[in-house]
Amino acid sequence: MRALSGIQPSGKLHVGNYFGMMKPALELQEKGEAFLFIANYHALTSVNEAKVLRAGVRDVALDFLACGLDPERTVFYRQSDVPEVHELAWLLSIVTPLGLLERCHSYKDKVAKGVPANHGLFAYPVLMAADILAVQADVVPVGQDQKQHVEVTRDIAIKFNQKFGETFKVPAPMILASVAVVPGLDGQKMSKSYNNTIELFASQADTRKAIMRIVTDSKTVAEPKDPATCNVFALYKLFATAQEREAMAAHYRVGGLGYGEVKQALFDKFWTAFEPFRRRREELQKEPARVEQILQRGAARAREELCKTLKAARQAVGLE
Ligand code: ADP
Ligand code: TRP
Repeated sequence: MRALSGIQPSGKLHVGNYFGMMKPALELQEKGEAFLFIANYHALTSVNEAKVLRAGVRDVALDFLACGLDPERTVFYRQSDVPEVHELAWLLSIVTPLGLLERCHSYKDKVAKGVPANHGLFAYPVLMAADILAVQADVVPVGQDQKQHVEVTRDIAIKFNQKFGETFKVPAPMILASVAVVPGLDGQKMSKSYNNTIELFASQADTRKAIMRIVTDSKTVAEPKDPATCNVFALYKLFATAQEREAMAAHYRVGGLGYGEVKQALFDKFWTAFEPFRRRREELQKEPARVEQILQRGAARAREELCKTLKAARQAVGLE
């Protein structure tokens, strides 16, 4: 089974991203062949400062490598290092009905929010289809919000195969929902757009400050509390063992536990859990050439697959 996924380099990764996407994506490298790339062409639809885009790519690369991406097992690359993907996108665009793109929620939502409706934003799903079909992926692990884009990819692959002969494997979405939505500091979904995140690699002082800001009710230390409705507990349990979780829940129910104390426990758990990742990230940060080499090697491997697929598609349409 071959899995491929992409991540946009926009904004600092947070605890919600880790449990909702990174951890399940990294687990896939244990199960089969995994491809993961940094979607910097796609990010150009929202990032328009060269410095910011470059820094975003570097951060995502460091974050994934620090958190356990093994470049021996996952083909890890930067989208712009395989520019041939645009030729494939063009070949796909000629079998993509406008109506299919007009129905995409992501496009409609962005335009409704005032993002200018340019061609890049509109054609975004076609480039995404090219990313996926290029490597003949079987499955595409994504969050719920990207499911429609994978369905568009399937439609495009089926249309192309019907018109020009079997060329692409038709991939299936794999919804990464092993963890319920991770709440942010204010209890809404943790999201960089809501400014309510615990960043994975912020300084110790900033991390502590963020955790101390988590919103709770105003029960006194003595009062019994309900773990099921507490944001601090919801985050604590992501890092705790089953036993620790039970012990903490019992302590909530009997009372005598202050929220400050639970926040401190959450901070300690998080800081300790990420300690090895943090150390690895600091090391990698000192070796940009090594990170670059990993991405270049990944791109060479991805390009092998891409060029094979592109050649078949060029032949199918009559360019060769
Ligand atoms: P953000 O909401 O911070 O902008 P993105 O939309 O860039 O995050 O999400 C990147 C990935 O992380 C997606 O696969 C998404 O499903 C996952 N993700 C983001 N926030 C959460 C969360 N609070 N809980 C679980 N998964 C999340
Ligand atoms: N659109 C995806 C997102 O915003 C990123 C992405 C680009 C992607 N190409 C992809 C994801 C191919 C999976 C497969 O999250």
